[in-house]
Amino acid sequence: MNTPQRVEHQQTDRGYIPVYATGIVEQPWADYTRTDHEVWATLFRRQREVLKGRACREFLENQERFGMSPGAIPKFEDLNKVLKAGTGWEIVGVEGLLPDEVFFDHLANRRFPVSWWIRKPEQLDYLSEPDLFHDLFGHVPMLLNPVFADYVQAYGLGGVKAFKLGPDALMNLTRLYWYTVEFGLIATPEGLRIYGSGIVSSKGESIYCLESDSPNRIGFDLERIMRTRYKIDTYQQTYFVIDGFQQLMDATRPDFTPIYARLRDLPAFAASDVQPGDRVIQQGTGEGWVKSADV
Ligand SMILES: [Fe+2]
Repeated sequence: MNTPQRVEHQQTDRGYIPVYATGIVEQPWADYTRTDHEVWATLFRRQREVLKGRACREFLENQERFGMSPGAIPKFEDLNKVLKAGTGWEIVGVEGLLPDEVFFDHLANRRFPVSWWIRKPEQLDYLSEPDLFHDLFGHVPMLLNPVFADYVQAYGLGGVKAFKLGPDALMNLTRLYWYTVEFGLIATPEGLRIYGSGIVSSKGESIYCLESDSPNRIGFDLERIMRTRYKIDTYQQTYFVIDGFQQLMDATRPDFTPIYARLRDLPAFAASDVQPGDRVIQQGTGEGWVKSADV
């Protein structure tokens, strides 16, 4: 019961990844083992400690509003009471990564898919696909922020549209999600803080993204991001910094169709590039970067 239902494997832009059954599944809470709960507890304690002074206030406060604790893996139904009352979102259990069109449809309808299974103890530091810890700990708290919640829905609606427009549009939009929802930083009066889920669920990257001299930190620019490739197998080489969540919402308001058309004939930027028009907050030294392909 504690193994997700993999259907097959498929070559995608994220590598050779498992394909899962795409339906909604009930969280099999009673079947979680003691080890599953211990993995949750270990990761929860570790990240709450690391994220003090590193994650943005909205993330930390919203996580507390859910009452998540190291005591046990949270029950989706308990989280949903808070989430539905807060922003009208709900989480739904899934087996794992979903095909784009299914994923977009969930987001467009304010449903956030959460993998019901949690990683194994030997995978505490890295996992190539999203598990319950990444999805619940990393994504769900920000969905209680009204502006961010609207942004993620707008992204889903944009995804439904981009899916019909074709692979180029989809790639542009996916980069936006990557550099904001997954790996975004925000400028606050206290300094840069993390809001991206891919960062907050990783101890190493939570420290690296703010404190290392290696990566670039560049002001948010929608079209710049849509042209920028990214890393899936190492920490990011560039982080984009927003001034506030409203900036995301404002940037998402226009119809992207003419933007996709314009970008189609322009070359993409490497994950490591700094461009002349960039608002550079920090130009990375590039120290320790490995030469691997960008997605
Ligand atoms: Fe994610």
